[in-house]
Amino acid sequence: MTHWSLLGRRVLAIGTTLAPLARGPLFGAAFEVAGLERLTDLRPAMVDLILIDADAADPAALGQAFEGLATMPGAPPTLMLGQRLPANLVRALMRMKHSDVLEAPFTDEQLQATIYALLDGAGAEQAATSSHASRCWAVVGAVGGAGATTLAIEIASALAGRTTKDQGVCLIDLHLADGATSAYLAATPAMGLSQFGQAAERMDAALLAAFTTPISKGLDLLACPRDPVAFDLISREAVLRILEIACDAYEFVIIDMPRHRRPWSQEVLSGADEVLVISELTVPALLAARSLSEEIEAALPVGRKARIVLNRLASRMFGPTPSTAEAERALERKTEASISSDWEAAAASVNLGGPISQYRPKSKIVRDVAVLIDRVLGVTDRRAGWSRRAA
Ligand SMILES: Nc1ncnc2c1ncn2[C@@H]1O[C@H](COP(=O)(O)OP(=O)(O)OP(=O)(O)O)[C@@H](O)[C@H]1O
Ligand SMILES: [Mg+2]
Repeated sequence: MTHWSLLGRRVLAIGTTLAPLARGPLFGAAFEVAGLERLTDLRPAMVDLILIDADAADPAALGQAFEGLATMPGAPPTLMLGQRLPANLVRALMRMKHSDVLEAPFTDEQLQATIYALLDGAGAEQAATSSHASRCWAVVGAVGGAGATTLAIEIASALAGRTTKDQGVCLIDLHLADGATSAYLAATPAMGLSQFGQAAERMDAALLAAFTTPISKGLDLLACPRDPVAFDLISREAVLRILEIACDAYEFVIIDMPRHRRPWSQEVLSGADEVLVISELTVPALLAARSLSEEIEAALPVGRKARIVLNRLASRMFGPTPSTAEAERALERKTEASISSDWEAAAASVNLGGPISQYRPKSKIVRDVAVLIDRVLGVTDRRAGWSRRAA
């Protein structure tokens, strides 16, 4: 899981000089400003992050506080800020498992990046000890109608069939104004954005459950009713917070991602473990897939790639369609998978309201989606279970 936002995070700030951060780069966090003595009766589970202004505290008392934190089981990640960071204090701080220092002056972005990295480190450890590592896949169409929603639904329902957990898969429709997932699944969308926006700050897994619609065993849907102004009703922080909580609660999170950029798009894509760009086998779609992938990759951590999936592959007897090899030349990269065209199965399932795997389980689309999932998960022999590829 990657941290995307500080909304609702409980931050304990040691030093009144840090108070203005609550209105700036740490906006949205549940911010408590206190003196150093607050650390003596600290219960780790009550705080997500400790920030300390080294310039405002007595160095000897601070050294003692660090010693206490270093021996405290489950001590929250701790970040020391300041212009003067004495080496002995830095050394004492570094005895803590999750700690860092940031020397002033620093920018808001540097502060946020350092905090996210600290929270990620602590989160990764928690995930390893609880053997829970969420997988978040964003599915985005290269052009309108490429099949992103169809494939997001099929991927989500196929994964739900493989997981044994109750909270297996959450399909999140981020087409907030006019998402199609609920209509495709004949489900009632439960995420009313006006209530949701108000609840965002105190959102947790239990509250999130009130906004999800159960679809089938292991599959929940998070989608909004149609609302033309939906994008204005919810802040960037709230969108990122939803994803964070869903990633904590579910084994898999599949996002039906809008193609047009929103204030949160790049963060969602760079926070996702996988980005699947869905293209058709037409020249304009392939060109769009290439440039969209490049655009997305510019914001991804170095070396991470979007995966291109070719959808609606039909026999070439229906006209001058490019072959997969020609498509890969146009894309200047290998594709991840090809999904066959099956209009009858796709139309039947949306008309009946459910995944293709439910109404047309023998469709080639279902088989091809299974191959795509195996490929992304790095499964080589499904009979041996679906062990995941090592990171
Ligand atoms: N492999 C396929 N074979 C046949 N029809 C398909 C296939 N994939 C999708 N379709 C059909 O193509 C149409 C568009 O699909 P879908 O709504 O999933 O695309 P989209 O990329 O989500 O579109 P939008 O840009 O509107 O979000 C739908 O009618 C769907 O049933
Ligand atoms: Mg769609």
